[in-house]
Amino acid sequence: MARFSQTSLERVKDAANIVEIVSQYTDLRRSGARFTGLCPFHDERTPSFSVDPVAGLYYCFGCGAGGDAIKFVEEKEGLTFSEAVEALAERFGVELEREAEDPAIEEARRRRTRLGELLDRTATFYATYLWESEEARKAREYLLGRGLAEDALRAFGVGYAPSAWDTVLVRAQRAGYSVAEIAAAGLIKRGRQGSYYDHFRARITFPIRDARGRMQGFGARTLNPENPAKYVNSPEGELFHKSRILYAIDRARPAIARRGRAVVVEGYTDVIAAHQAGFEETVAVMGTAITPEQIRLLAAHTEEVILALDADRAGREAMLRAQRAASGKRVRLRVARMPEGEDPADLLAGERAGSAAAERFGAALDEAVDLPAFHVRTLLEEANLKTPVGRDRALDEVVPVLAAMPDSITRGELVREVADRLDADPALVSRRLAAAERGAGAGADPAPRSADGEGRDGDGGPARAPAALSAQERREQALLGMCIAAPDFGREYLERLRPEHLSSDLSRRAREWLLLHLDDPMGGLGRDDEELLALITRLTMIAEREPASPEAMEETFLRLELAALEREIEAHVDEVPVELHRKRKELVDRLAHGVGAHRAGGTSA
Ligand code: UTP
Ligand code: MN
Repeated sequence: MARFSQTSLERVKDAANIVEIVSQYTDLRRSGARFTGLCPFHDERTPSFSVDPVAGLYYCFGCGAGGDAIKFVEEKEGLTFSEAVEALAERFGVELEREAEDPAIEEARRRRTRLGELLDRTATFYATYLWESEEARKAREYLLGRGLAEDALRAFGVGYAPSAWDTVLVRAQRAGYSVAEIAAAGLIKRGRQGSYYDHFRARITFPIRDARGRMQGFGARTLNPENPAKYVNSPEGELFHKSRILYAIDRARPAIARRGRAVVVEGYTDVIAAHQAGFEETVAVMGTAITPEQIRLLAAHTEEVILALDADRAGREAMLRAQRAASGKRVRLRVARMPEGEDPADLLAGERAGSAAAERFGAALDEAVDLPAFHVRTLLEEANLKTPVGRDRALDEVVPVLAAMPDSITRGELVREVADRLDADPALVSRRLAAAERGAGAGADPAPRSADGEGRDGDGGPARAPAALSAQERREQALLGMCIAAPDFGREYLERLRPEHLSSDLSRRAREWLLLHLDDPMGGLGRDDEELLALITRLTMIAEREPASPEAMEETFLRLELAALEREIEAHVDEVPVELHRKRKELVDRLAHGVGAHRAGGTSA
């Protein structure tokens, strides 16, 4: 698959009139050097969408969608990158040239395809083996006995890995794969003697695919209750990254779009039982807390995610961690109450759509509560409400959760509920809440003007930060944006920034990207990393509108340093080294007395 030559891509981008393209989807109004309007990617009443005709970029400050004309057409018209380029070339009269593909990229793609095919044929083999071999009889009986129907099991490609040591090794080699390839696909591993043997043996296998249906690996369950490893998964590797996997996302995608929600359960069997009972919008995380990456993947398909996880303590903690994972993302997380000790697989075993159990499960989903409300109730349940001291402590814990919620009827009701449970005057709870909000807003966390990033109304355009960005995120984006605006200083600050200054992998990736591409941050930005593309677009726009003075950069940097130091101090459970407190005081003093620009060789606290 030859790529378009760089020059013809540039010509397409130059010729494509982004204002004209976007105007087909939303009305744009000129506002200074830019155009603004209602975002065509999400529902809104006040405009957050901004188009920069000179740079050829769009960005939504509400939902974070952003990119160039090609990206816009990809998204709005559901085209692949090459299709979008071709469509634009035709529309704006550019002749496309193709060039030989970068051999390294071509090689990587070929390898990905080849390993994917190996996993595919292995999945087919396991599935056939499940239904046809004598050895797998027990597995068949077990699965059917648990109420999973044959058609559902077949649709999900469930299979069985033979107990022999080398079935897959031998078959794959016979099909022309090298030992190194079979190992890279995670199908074999190396024993102590140096010889290879099958990774999955005598287990029920569940093939795992990405949203586009490409194989990533397997999960495999033993039938032997004595076996301490109930499940074995593919090893982390080129294709399999546990933290990014959403089991069944390929099959659930259409239903998620149709119903406008995704349901997240804990395991493979839960998913199959749920689909069978008509809840085809169900996916699973792998028995662990949902990760920010998984939330990001889901957020690409829907704005509502219902967690239907175990109600036990571990499950509850996983849900609360999900809340942190979702911070800054545009998804509403809700929690469905499952009966204690039962997972969806038990609940829905053998059920078809419309049965009584399926209706109960559906009702639990429909009645799911917002995660913050769930959090508040969990805190109340766990608190000792018998003594005034215990109730005071519970109030201390509950107030920040309430403060993080938007002011709403739901929150008002929750406040009354809290007051009721704590036997307190609702006015007291409201006062504490108001105090907490003032604290979080002004006093406790003063961001320097410049670090408010897009928080100011530059030229009448949309100047609203996505509500969900934390002060920390705003600050790091402001600094990165200023690095782009003033590359001479920028390079120095990018070098001074360390991973612990930044709150997410994404910010760290952006820093690394900018270190190498500060002269032309948008140039050559890969489309496979959409998150990075959106963030760099956003930073480029911040850079355009935010003045970057050395003082503002230094101050923002010091605040990030202070925040990192405070996190470090907090992480010490026992005694905090005096040194840390000293450093902290020094930083606070410097910030209080106004910072001069950092001079090379000066102290960085
Ligand atoms: P469970 O132990 O609840 O398994 O783990 P399950 O899927 O309900 O299995 P059944 O119903 O007993 O057959 C939930 C999920 O956690 C992951 C798997 O994805 C599993 O589906 N898991 C669990 C592992 O990856 N490794 C393990 O050892 C256990
Ligand atoms: Mn389970």
